[in-house]
Amino acid sequence: MSPTTPPSPPPSHPEPRTPPTPPRVSLEQLDGLPALVDRCVCMDITFAEMLELVEQERLTLQGLMARTGCGTGCTSCRGYVRLVLATGRDRLPVLEPAQIEGFLDR
Ligand code: FES
Repeated sequence: MSPTTPPSPPPSHPEPRTPPTPPRVSLEQLDGLPALVDRCVCMDITFAEMLELVEQERLTLQGLMARTGCGTGCTSCRGYVRLVLATGRDRLPVLEPAQIEGFLDR
């Protein structure tokens, strides 16, 4: 009788992959990137219009959202709107959420 080999263990599931950390971008580097984001698409209001309203009506982020509805639809612009208010820039490149948070943490 030949020796039997024990059954091999089932294959283990690979560890979930962590998405790569996007590179930190400096404010100066923003100028070198193509600015492609300039509005809340859901409410069709530009960042320039938002900045004007914030200045004219002394709105906070929450006030701006209540006044215009920006950031309350799909919410994908919310980080951009925060960055617009923090920097005064009305056109931004496409950024990863972590990159936006990196700016706002400074
Ligand atoms: S793009 Fe602003 S809420 Fe959807």
